[in-house]
Amino acid sequence: MKIKSITAREILSSGSTPSIEVKVTLQNGTTGKASVPFGASAGIHEAYVLFDGAKRYSGKGMLKAVNNINKKIAPNLRNKDAFDQPAIDQLMIDIDGTKNKKKLGGNAILAVSVAVARAAANAQKLPLYAYIRKAYQLPIKKYVLPNPQMVVIEGGKHADNSTDMQEYMVAPIKGNSVKEEVQAGIEVYLALKKVLKQKNLDTNVGNEGAYAPAGLKSNESPLQLIRAAIKKAGYSKKDIGISLDPATSELFHNGKYHLKKEKKKLTSVGMINYFKKWLKKYPEIITLEDPLHEDDWAYWPEITRTTKIPIIGDDLTVTNPERLQRAIDTKAINAILIKLNQIGTLTETVQTCMLARNNNMMTIVSHRGGGETNDTAMVDLAVAVNAAFIKVGPSRGERVCKYNRLMEIADELKAKPVGKNFRIIH
Ligand code: PGA
Ligand code: ZN
Repeated sequence: MKIKSITAREILSSGSTPSIEVKVTLQNGTTGKASVPFGASAGIHEAYVLFDGAKRYSGKGMLKAVNNINKKIAPNLRNKDAFDQPAIDQLMIDIDGTKNKKKLGGNAILAVSVAVARAAANAQKLPLYAYIRKAYQLPIKKYVLPNPQMVVIEGGKHADNSTDMQEYMVAPIKGNSVKEEVQAGIEVYLALKKVLKQKNLDTNVGNEGAYAPAGLKSNESPLQLIRAAIKKAGYSKKDIGISLDPATSELFHNGKYHLKKEKKKLTSVGMINYFKKWLKKYPEIITLEDPLHEDDWAYWPEITRTTKIPIIGDDLTVTNPERLQRAIDTKAINAILIKLNQIGTLTETVQTCMLARNNNMMTIVSHRGGGETNDTAMVDLAVAVNAAFIKVGPSRGERVCKYNRLMEIADELKAKPVGKNFRIIH
């Protein structure tokens, strides 16, 4: 099935800055659309996000990337087979020719990549998740759906005045149904609002739809507040875990981790011990993401070896198969965060997911904090690869559309979430 045309437009993202939307039309008239997000605390090893850098939108316009799609990518992809997604993605990688997709922009390439996949899925009358399994002939038989990982308190780069650490999440893992897990997460989120109000803390939300209260006493306080909220909502620690993403690449300057809130400057060993204390005190913490910065390779193996929970690489691995291979070889992590736009094509993203899977590593597919859109491809990807969690905020339209898509898929497949068995590869 040949590609007839590809057109790109600038749209708005949740960060009140532009993003890109692409429409692909196939020879038989079938269409597919996609839009892409970008991060606020993006890792330095991610695919390049091409912004205009000119005056409009404070330099954050995406007309250059739009132009690259319309003028450089579209003519080269015309008449190519939309059903051969690996070839489509490889062609764009070759046209770009740089290691981090700097020339065309990772944002431009990914938007086309996903839009082509959607058009192909539509042409084959398959939901996107089923098409992804088919297009890459993934050797996965059953559908075991992801649990939610909901950001409920955010700080760091996502919210001024809150904590040094970026994300405190609740992870419903009861496993009966996706609907029940989503409901449980949201009920805890709403109970947390009451807990915050009782303590005279404000309940405004940050980039990812989580609360971002000023005046929190320490980086540890959210753990107490979330614990109280889980109880208040009537759930037990067994059914709802806590997940953390301190995003420590953002805290690391001049050789030390800076915790402003606590007036502390820690070494890598100090940072590891800091988290170990939390893990001991809060056994309900079930995953820990980016506890060390994106190039602290020497110390990652130690925290992974000496803790019992999944230690997730995000900025460390940036969904890049080469960086993941290094992390596997050095035993730096035992779980990986997946973000399509970190690497910039669907093909490379699936490759990273399968590399993780083949090494017995769970995957968590994630939204972005900088600018999100209403595109839900990340959810279909998570379902296709049997990811253990989707990490998404619990409010704001660009977040809840992801949970709505997951619940829609759950109904369609009549499948259950992985629940407490999230470490087992299904
Ligand atoms: P970002 O943060 O999307 O703003 O980069 C999310 C994360 O670090 O997981
Ligand atoms: Zn992260």
